[in-house]
This record gives sequence, C-alpha cells and structure tokens, in this order.
Amino acid sequence: TIVVLDFGSQYSQLIARRIRECRVYSKIMPYYTSAEAIRAENPKGIILSGGPASVYSEHAPKCDPAIFELGIPVLGICYGLQLMIHTLGGEITRGHAREYGKAMLKIVKSGNLFLGLDGEIQVWMSHGDKVAKMPAGGFEILGSSGNTEFCAVHMPERNLYGIQFHPEVVHTPQGKTIIGNFCKNICKCVGDWTMESFIEQQVREIRAKVGSANVILGLSGGVDSSVAAALIHKAIGKQLNCIFVNNGLLRKNEAERVRNLFGRAFDMKLIYVDATERFLARLAGVEEPEKKRKIIGNEFVQVFDDASAQIEQAEFLAQGTTYPDVIESVPIDGNPAAMIKSHHNVGGLPKEMKFQLLEPLSRLFKDEVREVGRQLGLPEDVVMRQPFPGPGLAVRHLGAVSQKTLDILRDADEIVVEEIKKAGLYYSIWQTFAVFLPIRTVGVMGDERTYDYVIALRAVESTDGMTADWVQLPYDLLGRISSRIINEVNGVNRVVYDITSKPPGTIEWE
Ligand code: XMP
Repeated sequence: TIVVLDFGSQYSQLIARRIRECRVYSKIMPYYTSAEAIRAENPKGIILSGGPASVYSEHAPKCDPAIFELGIPVLGICYGLQLMIHTLGGEITRGHAREYGKAMLKIVKSGNLFLGLDGEIQVWMSHGDKVAKMPAGGFEILGSSGNTEFCAVHMPERNLYGIQFHPEVVHTPQGKTIIGNFCKNICKCVGDWTMESFIEQQVREIRAKVGSANVILGLSGGVDSSVAAALIHKAIGKQLNCIFVNNGLLRKNEAERVRNLFGRAFDMKLIYVDATERFLARLAGVEEPEKKRKIIGNEFVQVFDDASAQIEQAEFLAQGTTYPDVIESVPIDGNPAAMIKSHHNVGGLPKEMKFQLLEPLSRLFKDEVREVGRQLGLPEDVVMRQPFPGPGLAVRHLGAVSQKTLDILRDADEIVVEEIKKAGLYYSIWQTFAVFLPIRTVGVMGDERTYDYVIALRAVESTDGMTADWVQLPYDLLGRISSRIINEVNGVNRVVYDITSKPPGTIEWE
C-alpha cells in the first residue's frame, strides 16, 4: 500500500489512480490522520498531495510531523513538498511569481526518483509559494526549473522526496515513470495489485462473510451494479438474488437486455418486477420535476421492499458502491471535491435496513470496476455504458409522462445512441441522449403540413458529472441523427441541439 495524504487537492484521486496503474494499491486518507493510524495501514510509502492552501495561512492543513520519522519513504507533491520543508525547518516564500502551466525541469541528479530520465523534461506546475531555503539535515537538489531552484529535492538519510510539479497530470508526460519509480524503486512495492488478484481475493472474502445466507442486489443495468452482480455471483452463485425493477422509464429494450444477460447468459437468480403501470399511474399528470423525482424514489423503495420480502434468509444487501463514493472529502476552501457529493447516484434505499451491507467494489476506481467486469465476462457494451439517471427517462421527458410520449422519446433516444456508436464516439463522451419537449411546432412533410413534437439532443463531456461541457459534434452526424429521428419516429418533426454547459445548465433537463 501507498498512502496518499489528502490536503484538499483536486488531484488527490488522480494520484491514487496513477499509483494503481503501476499495479500498487493506494489508499487516500485525510491529512489529519495520525502517524499511528497511517502506520497501522502498514504502507510502504506515503505521498503528500498538493492543496490550495499556503503553509503560512491561518488554517493551513498540517500533517502529524511524526510521519517523517516512521522510517517510511515520503514524497511531497507541491503543497506536500512545501509542508515537508516547512515542518522540518526550511523556509517557504509566499508567491509573488505564480507559476502555472508547462515548465521545463532540468534534472540535476537522476537518483532513484528520476531513474531512466535525464536532461530536461516537461512538467506541469501550479503554485504560488515555493521553497526558499532547505532545512538542515542533508537535503540535495535533484532538479530545478527556470523559476524554481528547489523543484525536486531529496533527503537520503530519511528517504524523503519532494517535487514542486504535479506528476499525476497528463501534462507531465513522464509523470507515470516518476510515480512508478517512487513506488517501486524507492518504496520497493512489488506491483501485484491486479484485477485478477482482486477478484480472487473478493471471492474468498464474500464467501467467508456471507456463509450460507442469501444476498439481495438491486440491479439497474448500469456499470456498478452489473459488475457487483457478476462478482458476487461468481462467489456465491444462486445465493445471490438480483431484483430488477422496470419502472416504465427505461430505455428501449433495456428490460429485455438485462433479463437476457443476467437471467439467461449468466443464469443468475433474477427477480424481474414490471412495475410500469404502477409508476405511470402515480406519475400521471405530474409536471413538476421535483415531484416526479420524489414519486419515483418512493415508489422504487416500496417495490423493492416488496420484492425483497419474498427472499428467504436474506441477510445481506449488496451495492455497487465504488471508491469515489466513500472517500472522505477534506473540508478545505477551494477544494471542489469538498462540495456536497452529487445529490443523487445513490439508489434511494431506506437508511435503516435490516440487512448488512455488502459492497465488494468499494475500494475500486471506475476504470478498475470496468476491468473487473470485463474479466468476469460482461460485454463491453455493459462495462463501458454511459451513466443513466435513477429516475430514468422521466428527467429527459419534460412535463407529465405518458406511455405514448415515452415511446417517442425511447425511439428517438435509440437512434441517437446508435448513430453516436457508429461514429465511434459513444465510449469517449460522458453522456449522449435525446430529450422530449412537450411542445409542438409546425412543419411540412411531403405536401402535408405537420404539427408535431420537438426532440432536443444533448451530448456532454465530463469527468464526474459535477461540471460538463457540451460537445461539438460534427455537423454531418447531427444532420444524420436529425433526419433519422424525423423520418423514423412518428410524432416528431423538429430536432434541436442543446449547447449549454454545466454550469449554468444541468446535464439532464429536469
Ligand atoms: P445533472 O442533471 O444534475 O446530472 O447535471 C449530473 C449527473 O447525474 C446524473 N443524474 C442522476 N443520477 N439519479 C441518478 O442516479 C438521479 O436522480 C440523477 N439525476 C441526474 C446525470 O445523468 C448526470 O450524469
């Protein structure tokens, strides 16, 4: 394990992911974790993240100074470097010359950290403060940039390293080598964190934990619940009971797809509840977005509860919770991760439940979840799926939903996804979908005047759904989607493209 101490950097998760890419397990802990608690993790190394603070500011996050005495190698990045130097008695100057963007690092001494690198390398900087004077005790310079003399430093006696630049971002092209060098050459990690070994270990753990009890899992068809189902199924087979609720707001053929894959191909025990009528009856005439969401959430809990009540000896509730869902965010001004976690993405299950939780993916990042899914035989189409909101098409169908207009939306949406896939863009775009607008406009088709509904297209780029940019889809692709929708979907005679980013817009329309 390498522990990443988080000082509120927007890049802390990125550091942890880069370490994992070197096949070394990483764990993010908040900066105030005691040296003892860190030692209890038995880490081979510690990385201090960057952060938005200055070491001299009043509420500067400080780590337990005893971590520099554990005899474990430490690498400080940006603020982490400054804090290390400050704690050990050096000096930091407050930034007059802010340095932001690409810079060249001249490597003075390769040592273990820059093994395999020499001369000048491009690095990414983002700092105001910098190290002005090194502490006593034998720090040496490994590299300097034009602006920053102490850009990479090393104290051999205690195996401490510090770098002012960010090796975790793609703008430091050799960053992965540097992080790999720290993990392997310096910390002597072997690099055996693989998804094969993860699956094996989880299978053992799940069996030991569950014993002969039954497990319930709410399957949505999304990446996380699908992979969790496949993993738990591998461990305990028919003791896993998946509940799949059709709320009438799913995409075209989605229910069939899920039933075929999990119920038939994987031969899982799958309880399929078609609650379409029940949901649509409750939603009839309801136009207000928040009301719609609430009805769907409440209804889901009831349907799910009813279905799970039929399962005997059910002691566990499995969920596809992933690592970013459980990382404790560090409350520091200027850290976007410290803002309230996305208000949704949690199933809407009641808090007090009679079940114990089983969350086998809770240590994995999304790319690792996908890899586990692949290794368990889930098709690419499932593991690379775009996110789909819990309330389903209801938040993409403005106003009150009806079976008829939902079908229009489903047909249009299918064309969007098909064309985006054909253009090879589906897996690189965060979300692409159709939105149904309950207004009608005039058109002509052949000799006839039409008066039909409008479909809006949405395509956004994002890394976590918190912010998003609209995508500049090629005009010919937009044209193809538009004419196919108008020709093939009855009831639509106009297609428009949404060019709003988030903020100020949201990704979904409701
Ligand atoms: P918004 O529309 O808030 O969406 O910009 C951000 C991301 O969250 C997804 N989303 C939801 N996911 N339940 C979910 O599980 C919901 O109620 C919900 N609402 C939005 C949305 O698809 C986007 O990826």
